[in-house]
Amino acid sequence: MTVRSARAIAHSNIALVKYWGKREGADPALNLPAVGSLSLTLDQLRSETEIHANAHDRFELDGVALDGKPAAKVFEHLDLMWRTSGTLSARPPCFVRSVNHLPTAAGLASSASGFAALTVAAAGAFGLASSLGDAGDPTRTRLAALARQGSGSAARSLWGGYVRLDAGSDPSGSDCIARPLHGRDHWGLKLLVVHTARGAKSVSSTGGMESSRLTSPYYPAWVASSLADLDAAERALAGRELAALGEVMEHSCFKMHACMFATRPPLIYWNGTTLEVVRAVFQARERGLVGYVTSDAGPHVKVLCEAAVADALAAELAALPGVHEVQAVAPGPDAHLELL
Ligand code: DP6
Repeated sequence: MTVRSARAIAHSNIALVKYWGKREGADPALNLPAVGSLSLTLDQLRSETEIHANAHDRFELDGVALDGKPAAKVFEHLDLMWRTSGTLSARPPCFVRSVNHLPTAAGLASSASGFAALTVAAAGAFGLASSLGDAGDPTRTRLAALARQGSGSAARSLWGGYVRLDAGSDPSGSDCIARPLHGRDHWGLKLLVVHTARGAKSVSSTGGMESSRLTSPYYPAWVASSLADLDAAERALAGRELAALGEVMEHSCFKMHACMFATRPPLIYWNGTTLEVVRAVFQARERGLVGYVTSDAGPHVKVLCEAAVADALAAELAALPGVHEVQAVAPGPDAHLELL
């Protein structure tokens, strides 16, 4: 089989209920999470990936040719996609060209949109799919499981709107399934991405979560309490209850960071401005300007709010010392595939 030229677009997502930790005793290649997660796919922030046949493997990100570990992860993932296509011959060499439309690489989930776009483009290039249907298309579910093997959070970027990824318990990973809960038009929310630093983060999520599992005394409690958070968030989302969703979203975030802090050596992804922004959001909430915070493996703060208050809240946060930029993003669309 030959490689077809294909292009994919996948949007980044932010976990409202967090994934942190891999399932113990599972095949590492399956990359099975210890906990489920629930996310919001983001407009604007996206990865666009093209795959073409080439004389040799080549990976280009934002116009720069990369080799070493980043390229190795990309081509390992292509090998997985090629094996999945059922072709017995060796994978032909490919040119993978990716562009990240993300403001910085620091803790803004480029691996989620990146691996989702790579998975979808490879599905097109290797004949696993020629297009993707609406949210109910079962091909999306199959591709989400493959994207997860590249990066856990990538499974959630196959769909727009609100997505739940269940951890499952079967050793094969067959019940670790992502599914769309609501489309992007379900609720007029905005996410303010508050940038508190420039530059890349120091410890990757993959290494960090493994270290938490092995050393953080809070890790078992984190895992044991996550299902209740997921169910509560799903209910609040269905009823469009921002106070209930915000409460469980903040709880999930702070619980994850408590687990990170208690890791040996400690994982502190925040900087001083991170906490100042959190405090400012709490104070604004007291005054009726309602937003709820979350943050990932990086120092930036993301604030969930109703669209009607987004501009006023963004202006307050942008005025804080140490804040570089505040970007307001809306719920984003499904991942997209095009054969060239
Ligand atoms: C803190 O999906 O990047 O953003 O599966 O090892 O690639 P790997 O991890 P990754 O972890 C994301 C962690 C998080 C929370 C989340 O997105 O759920």
